[in-house]
Amino acid sequence: MFQTLAEYSAASWKGSEGYDGLEAVVAGIADGAQRIQAKIRAAMLAHAVGTTGETNVQGEVVQILDTFSSDTLVETLSQCGRVAAIGSEEIEETVIVGDSPAHRYLVQMDPLDGSSNIDVAISVGSIFGIWKRQADEKVNESTLLKKGVEQVAAVYTVYGSCTMMVVATRGSVQGFTLDPSEGIFRLTNPNIQIPPKNSYYSTNEGNFKGLDSGTQKAIEELRNAYSLRYVGSLVADFHRNLLKGGIFLYPITKKSPEGKLRLMYEANPLAFVAEQAGGAASSGKERILDIEPQKLHQRTALIIGNKDVVERTVAAINKG
Ligand code: AHG
Ligand code: MN
Ligand code: MN
Repeated sequence: MFQTLAEYSAASWKGSEGYDGLEAVVAGIADGAQRIQAKIRAAMLAHAVGTTGETNVQGEVVQILDTFSSDTLVETLSQCGRVAAIGSEEIEETVIVGDSPAHRYLVQMDPLDGSSNIDVAISVGSIFGIWKRQADEKVNESTLLKKGVEQVAAVYTVYGSCTMMVVATRGSVQGFTLDPSEGIFRLTNPNIQIPPKNSYYSTNEGNFKGLDSGTQKAIEELRNAYSLRYVGSLVADFHRNLLKGGIFLYPITKKSPEGKLRLMYEANPLAFVAEQAGGAASSGKERILDIEPQKLHQRTALIIGNKDVVERTVAAINKG
């Protein structure tokens, strides 16, 4: 029988140097994910699909399930007793939870990624970057503005044909699947590494005309070599490419001159997972994990997947 998340956490992180308490943070994410996937699957029947009528700090229309997911995860992460502060795509300012010595972790999250796909029954997910708070570090707005390379762990979930949760720490990427009969996650994909053969490329081809010539040439190269797979949920596209080999790119476009995706809670966590699985992630100008963050919700271009293909694509973009 597959090892449970609780068994894996206790053996790998509980009491261990550098990861002590991480098991409680991951358990908080798992509990939140469990509740979110149940809500999503029943949403159509419960009139919980659609928008709240508000726009978030990104200027984007907020889906009812965006707010539900953010509120649920703030609750489960606050209750785990180990998280000092939370950044959320759906909340403009930093959520300060506590600054006792036990509150050792900082979490940045996209509580529901791909939310425009909810009402058409396409996979969505949640994304988390996890940093360590230094022992007596003050907990305020700037506490969360740490470089991606300082993450101690990254987690994402995919609410798709099954509910998966992938947890990356240094040198380890572990895939867990929700066992709906017991409501617990089981280790089904141990020690994930991105396959050496790149099979897919994922990008919004509808943006092609608004791209600079270097990016257009880079995409033409990808068209000639790989199959196109683009879901419109970053986390689902990334998960398929991680397991099957592939590259995802959301470059600078005319519509999004800073890039569309958010650095702290989309690019950084997935870049951490990609690198621990043998892949790479770049903004087109620099390694994602090296970017010095200035603002909680700042955007970036993202080219992520098989290391050799990312490097070739970034070179083509910069060749012009
Ligand atoms: P979110 O739902 O958290 O706002 O993220 C949506 C993002 C990402 O999931 C996806 O890859 C991208 O938006 C799709 O953008 P386009 O529709 O412009 O291709
Ligand atoms: Mn997102
Ligand atoms: Mn989102």
